[in-house]
Amino acid sequence: MNNKIAVIGCGYVGLTTGACLAHLGHTVICADVDADRVDALNRGEVPILEAGLDSMIRECVEGGRLSFVLGEATAAAECDFAYLCVPTPQGPDGSADLSFIENAARNIAAVLPLEAVVVNKSTVPVGSTRVVEQVLGRSDVSVVSNPEFLREGSAVHDFLHPDRIVIGSDDQSAAIRVASLYIGITAPVIVTDPASAETIKYASNAFLATKISFVNAIAAVCEAIGADMNDVVLGMGYDRRIGHEFLRPGPGWGGSCFPKDSRALVRIAEDAGYDFDLLRGVITVNEEQFERVASKAAEMVGGSVNGARIAVWGLTFKARTDDLRDSPALSILARLRRDGATVRAFDPTVTHPVDSRRTGLLEGLEIVSDPYAACEDADVLLVLTEWDDFKWLDLDKVASAMAHPRVVDARNLLDREALRRRGFESKGIGRA
Ligand code: UGA
Repeated sequence: MNNKIAVIGCGYVGLTTGACLAHLGHTVICADVDADRVDALNRGEVPILEAGLDSMIRECVEGGRLSFVLGEATAAAECDFAYLCVPTPQGPDGSADLSFIENAARNIAAVLPLEAVVVNKSTVPVGSTRVVEQVLGRSDVSVVSNPEFLREGSAVHDFLHPDRIVIGSDDQSAAIRVASLYIGITAPVIVTDPASAETIKYASNAFLATKISFVNAIAAVCEAIGADMNDVVLGMGYDRRIGHEFLRPGPGWGGSCFPKDSRALVRIAEDAGYDFDLLRGVITVNEEQFERVASKAAEMVGGSVNGARIAVWGLTFKARTDDLRDSPALSILARLRRDGATVRAFDPTVTHPVDSRRTGLLEGLEIVSDPYAACEDADVLLVLTEWDDFKWLDLDKVASAMAHPRVVDARNLLDREALRRRGFESKGIGRA
């Protein structure tokens, strides 16, 4: 069945949600408050790097099922469903800032057609569904929590092939109406109350972050006792209760979700009277991991990076995205530069001069457009993002460009034996 859907917010979540719902056959209007973004989308320019998204948007716009407008009210005026996909940034005390979501609700309250359903996709603290209900002040409009589980870089795939669909509402008929929008998608649907749906989202992200911090902590143990982390995770992962996914050691977790959501959950628990010491520990281990990677670079150049020239491959918080938000690479580089190193970096999606959105994050960093140029005269090379392309680069060329052939491979990405054969000194995570 074709439904009219308004999607409020044209970020990663909003654009993916809007395009995929249009792809499923609904008529979708996406709204944003940023006029430049809306103009760009109307010219067919997709402002984010997301596999398959631009072709899907093009196909849906051409098919007349997807359009972009300025302002929430224009989109919401004739909809059956309004999806809230606006940011919930971290406030100064670690809690989620709900001002965007409250504003969006306020701006659509008067224009929503009778018995429309408002669907909250943004990650919001427990109780926010009620807050949206109050801001809307419409007894005929139901508010439903429908959290997203989309990974940047594979968001379109994750939307169309989800592990589960979670719907939280006290209004069963509204929940069923929302579930029916996902027609054609095969996945278990969990219908629950709003607080449980909101908690499922936070608990899932916090659990995944815990898995990675655990693995990074075991990697530190492996280094201390001489075990090989790659073999350890392989052996752990074959236990089906543990599984192989999210067991990759690395420079720490980052991005726009895990850091913000884990802090928010600590805060939610604290406000409710529970001291979530375990999750605080998970966050601490993550911050220590940035320090550990920076220390590896220092050890390799004789104890201090003061005056050292450091080459970097990878700046984004993970591969297959151009997103630098809360990237572990930037936290590690900030430490190295604070200690006197000069850094020359290469990333396949980060070019120089950088666009204004990123300037603050990269200020003072030398960014080059060639991985070998980054290594010119370097004392040590740091691999910080797991871009596949790095695996196939010419190590002889890298060695001859560097002042000293040394690598800290914070993603255990490069072939250790190949590095050794070419005379590199190397350190990984949880293995030499
Ligand atoms: C994450 C979740 O995976 C999504 O399910 C969720 O919907 C999304 O947050 C969100 O809340 O919006 P994303 O931030 O795109 O998605 O990134 P992930 O792929 O989960 O990676 C997060 C971080 O963990 C990255 O820094 C990555 O490099 C790191 N990581 C991941 C590891 O260090 N090791 C691993 O094994 C996996």
